[in-house]
Amino acid sequence: MAEFITVAKTSDIPPGQAVVVDVEDLSIVIGHVEDEGFFAIADLCSHDGGPLGDCDLQGASIECPRHGARFDVRTGAALTMPAIVPVEVYQVRVVGDEIQVVI
Ligand code: FES
Repeated sequence: MAEFITVAKTSDIPPGQAVVVDVEDLSIVIGHVEDEGFFAIADLCSHDGGPLGDCDLQGASIECPRHGARFDVRTGAALTMPAIVPVEVYQVRVVGDEIQVVI
C-alpha cells in the first residue's frame, strides 16, 4: 500500500500558488489550482533539468523560469515548447489541514 508523507499545510499554499517542498531526496512542486485542489509534480523541468520553483500558476499551468516551457500541474503534461516530455506526477491527498504525497 502506498505511503503518504505530509509535506505542507493547506494554509501554506493559497489558490493560484505553487510551492517547492523537499521530501526525502526529492524536490516536489505542490500547486494549488483554484476550485480543483492540490497537485504535485517533480521540480525538474523535462526540457533541460532546471528547477520549476515557487511561482504563480496561470490556471493549472506552471512556467519553467529557464526557457519558458509550460506544464499542467495536474497531469505533468508539457503544454508548450521547448518541452515535449511530461514531468513526473505524484499522488496527493489532503487529510485535515495536511497535504500528503506518495513518492
Ligand atoms: S529547462 Fe525548463 S524550459 Fe528549458
